[in-house]
Amino acid sequence: MDISEIQTIEHDVLVVGAGGAGIRAAIECAKQGLNTGMISKSLLGKAHTVMAEGGVAAALGNVDKRDNWKIHFRDTMRGGKFLNQWRMAELHARQAPDRVRELEEWGAVFDRTKDGLISQRNFGGHRYPRLAHVGDRTGLEMIRTLQDFCVHQGIATHMECTALDLFLDNGRVAGLVAYWRETGRFVIFKAKAVIFATGGGGKAWRITSNSWEYSGDGLAMAYRAGAELIDLEFTQFHPTGMVWPPSVRGVLVTEGVRGDGGILLNNKNERFMFKYIPKKFAPETADTEEEASRWLEGKEGARRPPELLTRDEVARSIKKEVEDGRGSPHGGVFLDIASKRSPEFIRKKLPSMYHQFKELAELDITKEPMEVGPTMHYFMGGIRVNSDTQETSVPGLFACGECAGGMHGANRLGGNSLSDLLVFGKLAGEGAGKYIKKLQGTPKLDAGQVNAIIRRATDILNRESGTNPFVVQEDLQDMMQKYVGIIRTADELKKGLEELKRLYQDAGKVKAHASPQYNPGWNAAIDLPNLLITSEAVTRAALTREESRGGHTRADFYFESDEWLKYNVVIRKAKDGNMEVEKVRRDDPPEELKKIAYASLEELEGTKGG
Ligand code: FUM
Repeated sequence: MDISEIQTIEHDVLVVGAGGAGIRAAIECAKQGLNTGMISKSLLGKAHTVMAEGGVAAALGNVDKRDNWKIHFRDTMRGGKFLNQWRMAELHARQAPDRVRELEEWGAVFDRTKDGLISQRNFGGHRYPRLAHVGDRTGLEMIRTLQDFCVHQGIATHMECTALDLFLDNGRVAGLVAYWRETGRFVIFKAKAVIFATGGGGKAWRITSNSWEYSGDGLAMAYRAGAELIDLEFTQFHPTGMVWPPSVRGVLVTEGVRGDGGILLNNKNERFMFKYIPKKFAPETADTEEEASRWLEGKEGARRPPELLTRDEVARSIKKEVEDGRGSPHGGVFLDIASKRSPEFIRKKLPSMYHQFKELAELDITKEPMEVGPTMHYFMGGIRVNSDTQETSVPGLFACGECAGGMHGANRLGGNSLSDLLVFGKLAGEGAGKYIKKLQGTPKLDAGQVNAIIRRATDILNRESGTNPFVVQEDLQDMMQKYVGIIRTADELKKGLEELKRLYQDAGKVKAHASPQYNPGWNAAIDLPNLLITSEAVTRAALTREESRGGHTRADFYFESDEWLKYNVVIRKAKDGNMEVEKVRRDDPPEELKKIAYASLEELEGTKGG
């Protein structure tokens, strides 16, 4: 094909993904005077960011003055089972308050305290009320604010435009090929730097809070271009997704329900989470009903209820209750806020949950308990980046938000995703700016690479016959749900890898009918290789890590290992084209940070961070 006939758009920086991380990165690039473009697979505003409903975590100390960045950092490290990249967790905890205040200056309308400050609510694993929120629509408000701000920065926004692959010039990023979903036409973006903010790959599982866009595109494109992936075994199953009716299975039920006092019950009406309080860090969790009620009443020094243990712990406990026959009629457990809070409170603080259950499940949550169960929600692992600049191992390629790995270690605390995307979106924009300033010459477009990318996409349409891409996608989702779920074993993971071999073959034979214009079959077929690479990386990483930690539980290695704490699992494409997995020794943390992470609360309270 003569590529001179293909539409070509040139930017200094191209941001791929228009969720919170992408928009924040684009704003930072534009502020530096860079010609910035941003592509979005769907329409602007429809991002997984809106699925972080309950709040953005930042140690503002508005509701409890004892909070400060050190305690936020300590909670984040403990929640991540100490596997977090120390520097990322430090930057995040230090910078989150400024990023939230900046968002307020840009127009975000947060709920307020009686004194008119930004209100903050409790969430799992956070010592103090820390989540700045807008009812249960925080992510939505953040996206709205960022979008409004970004349109005034002169950023070129390209919607319904799906990225296919990067092209490189001598190992450096030179741009990316994409296609318009509406017309099916290809477009070449020439860029000196590309920032991936593409989110995770939750769509590889059957039960997920993720929507169709989350097919691991950024992870797979980065991998194909030679970047490294890190810690993909750590996948977060949010404890509370809807379980009934079947059409909405997996839809998120915000942790804000538990943060605002909701409790979990089994079919014997037992508040079962008391049974599952882990020995480690237990002193910070209430172990009696009375103690937990003191917390609900906002009493000084009261301990957190067990429903606010970290997500990995709550999700595993729910699974166990269901497996032992104490589940709800549709295979979940009950989440009850009606008996703890007034209908007025529920409708005011959790309006989306109220409407979601009314409309989708014909249930009034001010009167009855909800049925909930774990749903695949978030990837802790992702593209390996430099903590300060967010640059990957491919020069000119940056990553931020969910598609970048390391910040959350083995498990992410709720609300830390929204602060992560603000902090690291900004840093990625700065990193790309610095890279471009130093860049010698303009990277060149290689027609051979561009043609090969386009050929892979058009082959799907040009085959005489082939398999249905949706069938392959569904097979993959069932396989991941079955073999790479909340609790894993080597046998299951190996079976998963066997199945993946077959699925790769099937994916290589898929056929999409008709023209490329708005063709859902073709779109799904294009996403398939990305879903498969992501699934293979998760499965191989999970098989490699022989311990249980955070969002990775091995029934055959049911313990946290001090030895494994020393390693990350890194994945890259080997020269022979196969996936290579390496155990990589972690750097020792700076003494100062180590002291903070392991300090007692008393040592940190009132230090104001410093
Ligand atoms: O439960 C929630 O509102 C989700 C928040 C998050 O994933 O950070």
